[in-house]
Amino acid sequence: MLKFKNKNFNYALFGNPINHSKSPQIHDFFSKQTGILHIYEAINVPLDKFSLLVSKFFKNNIQGANITSPFKKEAYFFSDKLTKRAQIAQSVNTFKKIHNKCILGDNTDGIGLLSDLNRLKFIEKNFSLLILGAGGAVKGILLSILLLGCSVYILNRTTLNAKKLVDQFKCYGNIKIFEEHDLKNKCFNLVINAVSRNIQYNSKTYIPLHLFSSKTFFYDMNYSFENTSFINWCLKMGFKYVSDGIGMLVFQAAHSFLQWHGVFPKTDYIIDMFNKK
Ligand SMILES: NC(=O)c1ccc[n+]([C@@H]2O[C@H](COP(=O)([O-])OP(=O)(O)OC[C@H]3O[C@@H](n4cnc5c(N)ncnc54)[C@H](OP(=O)(O)O)[C@@H]3O)[C@@H](O)[C@H]2O)c1
Repeated sequence: MLKFKNKNFNYALFGNPINHSKSPQIHDFFSKQTGILHIYEAINVPLDKFSLLVSKFFKNNIQGANITSPFKKEAYFFSDKLTKRAQIAQSVNTFKKIHNKCILGDNTDGIGLLSDLNRLKFIEKNFSLLILGAGGAVKGILLSILLLGCSVYILNRTTLNAKKLVDQFKCYGNIKIFEEHDLKNKCFNLVINAVSRNIQYNSKTYIPLHLFSSKTFFYDMNYSFENTSFINWCLKMGFKYVSDGIGMLVFQAAHSFLQWHGVFPKTDYIIDMFNKK
């Protein structure tokens, strides 16, 4: 039996698990800051009940939603219409009810990441990027990065999953599987960690250290109140330019808010607040 904090919510987050999520706090902040009343509730969806529950919610008062792991692919198939970026990513993290009957699927992960990398001054056109991981989140970010003109190498535990991503995105830019023997004199400008949050980085983890310099930027899409394992690893190796993914989380939420309400909320204050914590 599902229990809700507030029965009158009209925006939701669907995921499993969702107890770690900061999205309700972020959206509450955006709502207060802009004066746009929206009540946002996180809903833990049983793994086999996504379509059933979401259909039920949209028949009621729900106007929009965010979708998080592991439902972004299902959300893509559930959408009646898709934005171009969601269609290309084949992954949806934002629903919007349109004409009071049909569901538009969007993906704001890519623009959210890019907004944060720009804020941090971690990215420039033509940068060379190493992405660690090839899951749903990487699908969401690749288009924005490739359209900027950056070249991307994917290093993933399961090479087949990385190959599928390369095939899906190669028509949008320069993207390859990471193969060390091809990259003798390479120096990456930016490394993005997009593997699952519980993975521990330590001396046994394979990372091609010789392909980084003291100027390389390191961005962990994961976040937590303490340093993530990846950030700790970077600091231990002496790299100075590091960030976790809290800014991306705030920006992807801000772009969803824009999609729902036509207003882009201020993001600096809430990013600073999370960083101070
Ligand atoms: N900051 C933000 O706004 C934001 C937005 C989206 C996602 N994220 C975070 O990004 C992370 C990835 O999300 P996702 O949706 O892409 O997850 P996902 O689809 O489950 O993909 C997980 C990735 O981690 C790899 N992996 C899992 N276990 C591993 C292990 N033991 N050793 C090495 N690699 C392993 C997987 O490799 P295989 O292909 O080999 O399974 C895959 O590449 C999550 O922690 C999520 O919270 C953050």
